[in-house]
Amino acid sequence: MTVSLVIGTQWGDEGKGKVVDYYSKNTDYVVRFQGGNNAGHTIKVGEEVYKLHVVPSGVIQGKTGVIGNGVVIDPEILIQEINELTRRGITPKLYISDRANIIMPYHKILDGAEEQYLGDKKIGTTKRGIGPCYSDKVARNGIRAIDLIQKEKLQRLLDRILPIKQRMIDIYDIKTKLDKKEILETYNAYGELLKEYITTTHIELNNAIQKKKNILLEGAQGTMLDVDYGTYPYTTSSNTIAGGCTIGTGIGPKHIDEIIGIVKAYTTRVGEGPFPTELLDKTGQHLQQVGHEFGTTTSRPRRCGWLDLVIVKHSRMISGITKLAITKLDVLSGLSQAYICTQYTFNGKRIDYFPANIEDVATCRPVYKEFKGWETMDQQITTFAELPKEAQTYLQFIEKETDVKIGLVSIGPGRDETIEI
Ligand code: GDP
Ligand code: IMO
Ligand code: MG
Repeated sequence: MTVSLVIGTQWGDEGKGKVVDYYSKNTDYVVRFQGGNNAGHTIKVGEEVYKLHVVPSGVIQGKTGVIGNGVVIDPEILIQEINELTRRGITPKLYISDRANIIMPYHKILDGAEEQYLGDKKIGTTKRGIGPCYSDKVARNGIRAIDLIQKEKLQRLLDRILPIKQRMIDIYDIKTKLDKKEILETYNAYGELLKEYITTTHIELNNAIQKKKNILLEGAQGTMLDVDYGTYPYTTSSNTIAGGCTIGTGIGPKHIDEIIGIVKAYTTRVGEGPFPTELLDKTGQHLQQVGHEFGTTTSRPRRCGWLDLVIVKHSRMISGITKLAITKLDVLSGLSQAYICTQYTFNGKRIDYFPANIEDVATCRPVYKEFKGWETMDQQITTFAELPKEAQTYLQFIEKETDVKIGLVSIGPGRDETIEI
């Protein structure tokens, strides 16, 4: 029996979907524990490409997907995703936590309105209503999955919540009137459609642990988007680090056996906020084009830069990472040199930690170690020894600097383009 956790160590889009799909072969349950449909996880099997936003990636391997209590769910998107998978021949086995908070129409409206209000100070959110939904959860104004299937309770909640939300919408001068009857009917209908999946997932998961089943926990976003340890306020609104997985599932911390940190071989970021190793030159464009760095959820171009081990080491410490999975190594092929940031210079001094103050981060300058590049990479290879020697040196440096073993190297988007070490 193993409970393994997969998390992103950077600003998201590290290839969590690909790696979770790969490790799903050994598991019984795959569990999302935070975030919502701000996530976009890609899985490629042969010529088939799946882009999942809420449904856990393990369903592609036929494993049971669990949407834990820490996830915020847009029921419309979830139903679309289930229908689309079914149309493509995958009927997902799914459990949804009765305690998961629901993204309501006013959350999406307010997400957009707040961003507009912030103007050039905007966060660059996905406008999926994530921040407003988590805010309501913490303020105890949330609507939870269980409420969707209890119409009278849902009506009582809407009676209390909607007048306040309408006032907020009016303050932002948005010309939308929330229609209580329509929201009640629509969301109760979503509840009826999802009823068969809504259950006490924390009990299901703890029973599975008792029965010695394998569980894989699928993080969304990455450490630098964590609301506590990321580039606040340019973060998402949940805890993306390892600690988030126990809160978001009801699995106690002692049960977590393995914490796998995914590291893209370079760095990307979508949205606003500081990014010390960002490349605003031709190399940055090269990484963007070769790596197809366009958002899975919003199609926005991703900002690209060199690998930053200051943030990977920050992530290792905060989450207690026990194994690394390096992705997109193939994208660095064809560069004559590659660089890895090991420290920053800040106020004339070298530092190897991430400052809390966002204005300070913006003044940090990366200190790089140079690596010889490699021409090409055969994506059919299956062992570390077959990698170009220069790529091996690059990986060995990451292992040495982070003091964590690499367990997997991904050299292409497909399931088979993977080297397990
Ligand atoms: P996630 O959010 O962490 O699951 O990552 P995304 O799916 O948003 O973005 C990762 C992108 O890189 C997807 O298009 C993947 O198909 C692709 N990808 C994953 N691993 C590799 C790899 O090793 N090499 C290449 N070239 N592409 C990869
Ligand atoms: P996956 O799971 C990359 C970013 C947004 C924005 C910030 C806040 O695919 O790695 P939000 O809508 O969450 O309030 O936006 O977080 N963001 C992501 N960036 N990958 C993601 O998910 C992201 N989810 C949110 O771009 O900067
Ligand atoms: Mg993504």
